[in-house]
Amino acid sequence: MNKRSNLPVRPTWCWRRWIVSGQEDLWIERLQSHADINWVMTEKPGCVRILLEAYARKPAAVTALAHTFGGKVRRVQAAEWVGTQTAAPTRIGTHLEIIHAPTRTRQPTTHRLCIPHGVAFGSGDHATTHMLLGALFKHGDWSHTSVLDLGTGSGVLALAARLLGAHKIVATDFDPEAVRTARQNETLNFSTPLIRWQCADVKKLRSPARHDLVLANLFSGILGEAAPQIAGSVAMGGQLWLSGILRTQEQEVTAAYRAQKLTLTRALHRGKWVMLQWQKKLKSRRAIST
Ligand SMILES: C[S@@+](CC[C@H](N)C(=O)[O-])C[C@H]1O[C@@H](n2cnc3c(N)ncnc32)[C@H](O)[C@@H]1O
Repeated sequence: MNKRSNLPVRPTWCWRRWIVSGQEDLWIERLQSHADINWVMTEKPGCVRILLEAYARKPAAVTALAHTFGGKVRRVQAAEWVGTQTAAPTRIGTHLEIIHAPTRTRQPTTHRLCIPHGVAFGSGDHATTHMLLGALFKHGDWSHTSVLDLGTGSGVLALAARLLGAHKIVATDFDPEAVRTARQNETLNFSTPLIRWQCADVKKLRSPARHDLVLANLFSGILGEAAPQIAGSVAMGGQLWLSGILRTQEQEVTAAYRAQKLTLTRALHRGKWVMLQWQKKLKSRRAIST
C-alpha cells in the first residue's frame, strides 16, 4: 500500500471518494484551494483507483467537498487517526533522527527530537518538511541567527533550529491546538523554554521584528496571498525558505516573491514538491543615507 498525504491536523471529520489513477495532480490542485482541510491518498497494489480522503476539524469543510465532488462524509475518532500513523523514526541524513515516542536510549552521534504523532502536522517525514530540515542542517553559523517559523504545526522546524543553536526563535500557527502541541513538544525535548510560540494568522502578520531566517511550509495559495506580510518579516540580508509548493505552482509563487524584491537563490525539487530559498538584499549605503 502506498500512501501520500499532506497529513491531517487534529482531524475529526473525513470526506472520502475514489479517484482514477493518473489524476492525482488534478485532485491535489483542486484541494489546495481548501485551506482548512488536509488530505491523504492511498494507493493499493493492483488497484486502478486511489482512495482520496480529506480531513477537517469542522464538518462544513468536508460537506462542502461532498457537495462539489460527491463522495461520503463521516466523523473520525481521534484514536482511529493516531492508530494510522507510523511509529518508525524519521531521519534527515545522518544529522537528525525524529522519534515519535519518548525513549531512554540515545545515539550520541545523532541529534534527536521526539515529536509524537497524531495532533499537529510536522512529523518530519513529509517531503515539504524534510527539505526544510535538510537545509537547516546545512545552514552554517547559528550564533546570531533569529528564526521565524510560520505555520509551525508540531513545532518541528523551530525545535530543529533550537537544537542547532539558534538563539532567538518565534514560531506561529493559526491553529491553537497546533501551538499548544508545539509548546508541549518543546517541553518534551528541552528542559527550559526558549521559543516564543504565538497563535496568529500569517495573512494578518504585523510583526515589527524582522528575522534573519524565515521558514514557511504552507499551501501555495497562502504563500501567494500573504507574500507582502511574509517577505516583510525578513531582515535586510536575511533569508526566506518557502515549502509546501507544488511544481505546477512554482512560477506563480516565484512571481509573487520577486514582486516583493527578493532574490531567488535556490530551488530544490523533490517529487511534486518544491522548496524555494530567497534572500533579501542589504540596503546599499546610498539607499540608507537618503
Ligand atoms: C504543512 S503544515 C507545516 C508544519 C511544519 N512547519 C512542517 O514543516 O512540518 C502547515 C501549518 O500551517 C498552519 N497554517 C495554515 N494556514 C495558516 C495561516 N494562514 N496562518 C498561520 N498558520 C497557518 C497549519 O495549521 C499547519 O500547522
